Amino acid sequence: MNVTQQRALDRQVMGWLDEAHTRILKRLDQHFHVSTKDGARDLVTDVDRETEQFYVGKIHEYNPHANILSEEGYGDAVSSLAGQVWFVDPIDGTMNFVTEHAEFATMLAVFEDGKPLLAWIMDVVNHEVIHGGPELGIWQNEQVLATPLNRDLNEGLMILSGYRLLRGEMALPEIARQALGFRIYGSAGISFMHVLRGQAVGYLSAMRPWDYAAGIVLAQSLQLRVGRVDGQPIDVLQSGSVVVATPSTYASIMTIEQSN
Ligand code: IPD
Ligand code: CA
Ligand code: CA
Repeated sequence: MNVTQQRALDRQVMGWLDEAHTRILKRLDQHFHVSTKDGARDLVTDVDRETEQFYVGKIHEYNPHANILSEEGYGDAVSSLAGQVWFVDPIDGTMNFVTEHAEFATMLAVFEDGKPLLAWIMDVVNHEVIHGGPELGIWQNEQVLATPLNRDLNEGLMILSGYRLLRGEMALPEIARQALGFRIYGSAGISFMHVLRGQAVGYLSAMRPWDYAAGIVLAQSLQLRVGRVDGQPIDVLQSGSVVVATPSTYASIMTIEQSN
């Protein structure tokens, strides 16, 4: 897909996101059903399912041959990155969605034959979308987003997964100690947005493909570093502990991890 086609697709998906924004906020004012998946803290609602069905319908209208890897089961069983593959997380931060009615995101990413093309993360309540790709550049709504300053871990905020920090997983306690400060947002999408805007120097969590696909496309396009904490190459079809950070922070985190 050339850059002109990418620009047209970006505009089209921004239209889907406008519609998703209206639908999701309207549903927040109505009753919706909440149930659990893998334990009491893993929530899913009617709105997660409806939003995923909405995106799957739009993607299939756009490209009937696209494969979709999505969280709630309305996509496909994707085992290869051949052709056009979409990643969909309809509501990211469902716990925040249910309890706070704020600080949740919706995320989409598209790859072509393994190559990242475009991604979108929307902070739904604030109607802010970070979008673009390696060839198109990165935007927040209509404004170009610049590469964040290359600040080190001790010069900025590090975003972590709360439960994993409590359990002392990876080297999270030491990373939190060495950071200027640390934050826990409960939404991978909202966390990625902070790093993409340069408000935080990094984010580290164990994530599933739809949690991080969009974030890594946008981050790499802004010259941020992304990788797995175990040093293995990222396979976007697999779950894993993924770090996104400024180059300096990334190096500091990997040093801490290796001496852990
Ligand atoms: C979750 C959130 C959370 C992260 C979990 C994700 P969901 O996504 O992004 O911050 O720590 O690993 O599963 O389930 O609300 O889409
Ligand atoms: Ca989700
Ligand atoms: Ca998620």
